[in-house]
Amino acid sequence: MRRPLVAGNWKMHGSRAGVAELIMGLRELALPADVEVAVFPPYVYLAKVVEELGRVAVGVGAQDCAIEPQQGALTGEIAACQLQDVGCSMVLVGHSERRLLLGESDDWVVRKFAAAQACSLTPVLCVGETLEQREAGKTLEVVGRQLAGVVDALGVEVFARAVVAYEPVWAIGTGLTASPEQAQEVHAAIRAQLADKSAEVASGVRILYGGSVKAANAAELFGMPDIDGGLVGGASLNADEFGAICRAAGN
Ligand code: 13P
Repeated sequence: MRRPLVAGNWKMHGSRAGVAELIMGLRELALPADVEVAVFPPYVYLAKVVEELGRVAVGVGAQDCAIEPQQGALTGEIAACQLQDVGCSMVLVGHSERRLLLGESDDWVVRKFAAAQACSLTPVLCVGETLEQREAGKTLEVVGRQLAGVVDALGVEVFARAVVAYEPVWAIGTGLTASPEQAQEVHAAIRAQLADKSAEVASGVRILYGGSVKAANAAELFGMPDIDGGLVGGASLNADEFGAICRAAGN
């Protein structure tokens, strides 16, 4: 049985005051015990969030890491081992905003994934198609290629210690959500692709859906057989809304 995971990606949002308020809201939430919950704040607030959420059952992750696992001369980057050092347990890898707006290549995504695991962090590998690719009928091909980049380079076994997040680019921050059936089709294809190499790894890996998840649509999405929780952007900036999404993943 896969334990659902609800992850809040704060993206480049927040200020000292705003983060303090959000932490306070998160500490007051009644979170379901059968759901794993994590938040992904901007780097500069990570240590503070780890410190303040240390006593509640909320994990903390980073939104990215450097291609090299260890500290060194790489100006402006943060090493996975530094993230581990400040108390992170997870890291997003290959978010579409980084792939599309910052030109992050498949090769870099593989190196970041490997760097995360080298430092005992759980990578959350983000995959997803653009609207143009979906309309051209290329969704499964694009997502399959993004997944294969990691499987071919590092082997399927690395997914025994990783999470996959399917985030259709056209649904991110747009208010458009993939229907539960649209999302399920892609989630099932991701699991089948992994099952081709290892049935055991495929049945254990958690595959999250991301893209305009909110309290109003979460239960329906999380009710699908291959959707094991969510990667939530905008709605994770409101503690009450985020709490309701976490509860929708429960039982
Ligand atoms: P929204 O929930 O704001 O659409 O963002 C989704 C996302 O990109 C999470 O990583």
